[in-house]
Amino acid sequence: MDVKIFNTAEEIGVAAAEIIINKIKADDSAILGLATGSSPIPTYNELIKAYNNNVVSFKNVKSFNLDEYCGIPASDRNSYYTFMHQNLFNSIDIKEENTQVPDGNPEDVEVFCKGYDEAIKNAGGIDIQVLGIGRNGHIGFNEPAEKFTKGTYKVKLTESTIEANKRFFDKVEDVPTEAITMGVESILDAKEIILIATGTDKAQAIHDMVKGEVSPACPASILQKHSNVHIFIDKDAASLI
Ligand code: GLP
Repeated sequence: MDVKIFNTAEEIGVAAAEIIINKIKADDSAILGLATGSSPIPTYNELIKAYNNNVVSFKNVKSFNLDEYCGIPASDRNSYYTFMHQNLFNSIDIKEENTQVPDGNPEDVEVFCKGYDEAIKNAGGIDIQVLGIGRNGHIGFNEPAEKFTKGTYKVKLTESTIEANKRFFDKVEDVPTEAITMGVESILDAKEIILIATGTDKAQAIHDMVKGEVSPACPASILQKHSNVHIFIDKDAASLI
């Protein structure tokens, strides 16, 4: 694991975006794995800046998002579909048909999930996966569990995740309790991974991920087994390592 400690979230954004931009410059049809949450926003801002300055074009880039809430429509202001459009897609030249955010309300969950994994494989696999981390060590929406998960599936969110996500909703009852997420194995299939975290509330999860044993009790700890992972964190998130 390449662990780098930065002073600010903005510096992390610059460093993470640089890796992504260099990848797209080397291969203009790169496949990106994208994440939501506050952690990747500075990275997305840097990508938008680079696009506006004609440093990079996303016109042949494809993207697959990690996860989506169940029980709210894609058009909801809190859906990850909306998040991605507001924070990245609407501000760059990526083609709508080249962006995929999981359907949070598929008619047949199993068929949908299998199809999502196949679409990623058929596209050639994810070149760079952007990740945040939950306070409990989750990646995507892979919550602490007894076993590491495999492909895309429907998950029940833990109380800690629902609690962390309620800041975006009017009432805690409105926070979705289930989600469709790429599995841990699908995340590990990415050729390169950039995990971003800031703040003291992530310090324990970062400790467990970097220094703990590889265990599904901290899903992110599996990243120790990947050969090309960048962990970009600030001093607060690094305070326990
Ligand atoms: C949600 C997302 C994760 C994200 C996490 C942390 O649970 N499903 O992909 O990593 O939030 O979000 P934040 O970066 O806002 O702390």
